[in-house]
Amino acid sequence: MSFLIRSTALLSLAVLLVGCQPDGPPAALTPAPEFQVQTGSDPHSFAEYEQVRVRHLRLDLDADFSARTLSGHVLLELDRPEPGFQRLVLDTRDLDIRDVNAIQPDGQYLPVSWRFGADQGHLGRPLVIALPAGIEEVRIDYTTSPEAFGLQWLDAQQTSSGKPFLFSQSQPHYARTWVPLQDTPAVRYTFDATIRGPRDLMVVMGADGNELARNDTGEYQFTMPQAIPSYLMAIAIGDLEFAETGPRTGVYAEPDWIEAAAEEFDVLEDMVEIGEDLYGPYRWGRYDLLVLPPSFPFGGMENPRLSYLTPTIIAGDGSLLALVAHELAHSWSGNLVTNAAWRDLWLNEGFTVYFEARIMEALYGPEIRNQLAKLSWDGLKETLETVDERDRQLVRDLSDRDPEQAFMPVPYDMGGFFMDWLEDRVGREAFDAFLREYFDHFAFESIDSEDFRAYIEQHLVAEYPDRLSMAEIDQWLYEPGMPASAEAIEPVSDAFERVDAARREWQAGERSLAELPTDDWSVHQWRHFLSGLADTLDAETMARMDEQFGLVEQTNYEILYLWLMRSIEAEYEPGIERLERFLLEVGRNKFTRPLYAALAESNWGRDWAIKVYQRARPGYHPLTRQASERALGL
Ligand code: BES
Ligand code: ZN
Repeated sequence: MSFLIRSTALLSLAVLLVGCQPDGPPAALTPAPEFQVQTGSDPHSFAEYEQVRVRHLRLDLDADFSARTLSGHVLLELDRPEPGFQRLVLDTRDLDIRDVNAIQPDGQYLPVSWRFGADQGHLGRPLVIALPAGIEEVRIDYTTSPEAFGLQWLDAQQTSSGKPFLFSQSQPHYARTWVPLQDTPAVRYTFDATIRGPRDLMVVMGADGNELARNDTGEYQFTMPQAIPSYLMAIAIGDLEFAETGPRTGVYAEPDWIEAAAEEFDVLEDMVEIGEDLYGPYRWGRYDLLVLPPSFPFGGMENPRLSYLTPTIIAGDGSLLALVAHELAHSWSGNLVTNAAWRDLWLNEGFTVYFEARIMEALYGPEIRNQLAKLSWDGLKETLETVDERDRQLVRDLSDRDPEQAFMPVPYDMGGFFMDWLEDRVGREAFDAFLREYFDHFAFESIDSEDFRAYIEQHLVAEYPDRLSMAEIDQWLYEPGMPASAEAIEPVSDAFERVDAARREWQAGERSLAELPTDDWSVHQWRHFLSGLADTLDAETMARMDEQFGLVEQTNYEILYLWLMRSIEAEYEPGIERLERFLLEVGRNKFTRPLYAALAESNWGRDWAIKVYQRARPGYHPLTRQASERALGL
């Protein structure tokens, strides 16, 4: 059957052994100089998790800001479903491994032999450890590289507090750059951690144990009693303060941001309650937010108990809170029920886009939800017209690609519209009941698209055979593009139609700028207005618009971003000046990548952009550097 894209056979990877430890102690088992690593069904991990599986992890690390390293050890507690399988393969990238010991049942350390396999680029190098019979604990002493892809070390000059900052970004496969582990979403484990940083900074983690104020020892302890996949491992160290937004919610930020953040996110507690009313209990204890410096490469990251956020969503009026709803929704879709591999990313992101919209609707009503849905629909249409056929479907074969490629609008927006379509077919009440049961049934499990498929067949299609069929579901999952039946759920926003009418009249000279009815426009109506002006403006018109609306001074980053795009197209001088400051300050890829790409494609901007990039680069995250360089063709 055509939808079974994934090969069910175990993937085998030839791994050359290099970098042997010089005076390694006697080995209980010496791997041959060349052998096959069997991986599980995740092509982006070397872990052989069917044979040996990490169950709990204990981290003990020192953060050294002058060396830009984390150094210490990790202790891995293992389950061994195949007791005779005498090898543990971990994912690593750019890690300096100092020592590997097995811990015997009586607590004695037993040095074991270990080797690195060949370097496989972004996948890093497998660390192959001899695992004597009966051993269930292994300790690895290591240091991270100053270049670790999953960490950004910021100097004192690069933060608003004037103190250094460190944060991690582990999704999709960068946890292996700061901890040697089985770096696949198919494996879940609990953990505890002791982290030591500078005394004048505070350490936080996506875990239980975050403190309300800085202590004076610099040492912080955490536990994570719920089993999580490695991409949710998260740490940050900085000059942080905490502000409460409710009994189990709050926000961490640098002192300059804390007040504005607490105000912006004052609906956080309500959001958690809405989430619970929709899809069942929030199972993680506290829910806090961490506001990162502007170099944070994403809008948000759903680290458990502590979502990470870009400061560019603090607009002063709560207009960009959909992103917070999104990261919170991942506490169910993603963190509780997790995609087993990156080909199944839509299970995380598509469900979350739908859940996010439901939270927004409950908070602000259906009109705002429709506006957001229309923006998403238009963006998806554009993507579907431009990407390769293999990238136009929900379940995608990514086995020979960087899992970074998984993140594009199809798993997000098309995944979200698939959920809308299901709701439309069976009705909201039945669909909500189905989702609640789904989250409950698969809680704390990692599942693939075929697990979802089997579950929906039994629990929804079987109940409503006259409303939806497996053939239709398979079309959504495994065929390129949106099915024709998706037209039933195309979002309609009256507010956007009024914008379209006003824009047309202005363009036809029937209305002046001053006569545009912008006074009651939402931020999203502005976004729709400015998107609809792509490639139509000249510098003179833009100057008049700025006189009227002050767009170049915008503090709302979504609006500002679109104005900067229009400025590149029109070579509009005041916009270009603002763009330079923007690129030097903000590292959020959703903005920086398309801005650099537009500059590179313009007939005037590439050399200018490269110069700006070179100045901005030291302040960018490794991911932003990579994406910007690709956009600029460097
Ligand atoms: N899990 C993602 C963040 C992410 C994206 C990690 C790509 C690794 C690679 C997060 O939940 C997310 O989707 N963030 C979006 C916001 C959302 C509202 C679309 C973002 O950062 O823009
Ligand atoms: Zn997401």
